Parts: sequence; C-alpha cells; structure tokens
Amino acid sequence: MDIEGARVLVPGATGAIGSALARTLHGSGALLHLAGRDEAVLRTLGEQLPGVLTSTFDAYDLDGCAALTDRAAERLGGLDAVVTCVGVPAFGPAETVSDAVAEHLMTVNALAPVAFLRAALPHMTSGGVLVALTGVVADAPPAHMADYAAAKSALAAWVEAVRKEQRRRHVTLVDLRLPHVETGFAGRAVAGRPPRLPPGLSVPAAVALVMAALTDAPPAPAAA
Ligand SMILES: NC(=O)c1ccc[n+]([C@@H]2O[C@H](COP(=O)([O-])OP(=O)(O)OC[C@H]3O[C@@H](n4cnc5c(N)ncnc54)[C@H](OP(=O)(O)O)[C@@H]3O)[C@@H](O)[C@H]2O)c1
Repeated sequence: MDIEGARVLVPGATGAIGSALARTLHGSGALLHLAGRDEAVLRTLGEQLPGVLTSTFDAYDLDGCAALTDRAAERLGGLDAVVTCVGVPAFGPAETVSDAVAEHLMTVNALAPVAFLRAALPHMTSGGVLVALTGVVADAPPAHMADYAAAKSALAAWVEAVRKEQRRRHVTLVDLRLPHVETGFAGRAVAGRPPRLPPGLSVPAAVALVMAALTDAPPAPAAA
C-alpha cells in the first residue's frame, strides 16, 4: 500500500504506539482520522499534525466505535487502512482477577478493535489494509496474564477468519503480534502488578513494524 495520500483511521491514537504511528503516517503523507479517549492528547495531536481529523471514543461504547468508523470514512472520502492501537493489560493469577476486570480486558482488547474493523469492512476497497495490534501473548499465553492473552487471542482469531473472507476482495488483514515494547503499557494495568519484563522493543521499532505491515500489503490488482 502506498502511504502517501492513504486515508487511515487510528483508534488508540492517544497511546504511545498510536501517537508515534500517527506522527510517522502524517510525515509520510497519509490523511488521518485519529481516535482516542484522552481529549487533551487528541487536541495536542490535532495541533501538531495539521489537517488531521480527531474523535473521542470509549471502548465500552461498541456502537460508538462503529459509528466513528463510518464518520471517519465519510469525512476522509473513504478508508484505505485502519490500525487498532487500543489495549489495556491486567496481571495476576487467574483466581485473583475479577469477572469485571476480565470483561474490561475483553472489551478493550478484543470487542472494541473488532467493532472498528467490522465497521470498516464495507468501506474498504481493493488494496485496503486492516491491522490489529495483538501481541506475542496470542502465541504463547504467559502465566498471570490469562485474561489479557485470551482477549488478544480472540482478536487474533477474528482477524485470521476475516482475512480468509476478504482475500477475494483484495483487502488485507494483518494480526501484528508485537513483542514487549517500552511504552510503560504494563504500568497502566487495570489490575495487578506486572512481572519484571525483559527489555522490549523501542517505540520507533514497533512503529516500523506497523509501517512495514501497511506498506508490504499488496496493492490493488491492475484493472483488466
Ligand atoms: N507495549 C507493549 O508492550 C505491547 C506489546 C504488544 C502489543 N501491544 C499492543 O499495542 C497497542 C498499543 O499499546 P501501547 O503500548 O501504545 O499502550 P498505551 O500507550 O497504553 O495505549 C493504549 C491505548 O488504548 C487506549 N484505551 C485504553 N482503554 C481504553 C478505553 N476504555 N477506551 C478507549 N481507549 C482506551 C488508550 O487511551 P488513553 O490514551 O485515553 O488511555 C491508548 O490510546 C495495544 O493494543 C497493546 O495491547 C503493546
């Protein structure tokens, strides 16, 4: 996919990876709709990145996530890519994690990203790309992260099934299983304390992986 002129929605653009990605995409000439929960951060991004559109959302409002996607497509005149950067962890042995926390993790890490991606499908045309940031936890769920890993695995499974559905439309779905990235993410856990983590990827390195996922996606096939 060619980034220059691409119309891209970034839910979770107020986070460490989302905001760094937004800056890189903007610098590469993408047309952006940035969505986040934190109004102040969104406002700052809007001031620093001329021309970007912004909207707030809360992951618990799944209808709102879908409506925001439709609005983004309308305001941008279509959608070429969506990159979901929404997420929150929790830590601790499974018996110490409440069902309310489990519901929160499933909503923020799986249901909300799915709501954005599902709503984007009718707007995508040949050559479009949908990227979900999942994590290596989907491959190898670690102890004390059962609910976070289960939510990321649910998102990964959804992406894999829809990837097969969309192949004939030449819409690419990418499940980007990032390793630990040095963003302070673990410190924003809704419950529990993180284990000691090995040094992770830098934010620019994580953004480079997202950019590669977008640019490596095959372009629309030439018309016959
Ligand atoms: N950092 C890592 O080690 C790592 C590894 C693998 C995968 N990932 C994934 O990469 C993505 C970005 O992570 P990050 O490290 O950049 O973390 P981050 O800085 O904490 O960003 C998380 C984003 O999710 C948003 N969010 C959380 N709860 C929300 C809610 N209820 N409603 C709306 N938005 C909500 C945050 O909004 P606010 O700004 O308003 O809080 C923020 O924009 C996440 O999907 C994460 O799971 C991260």
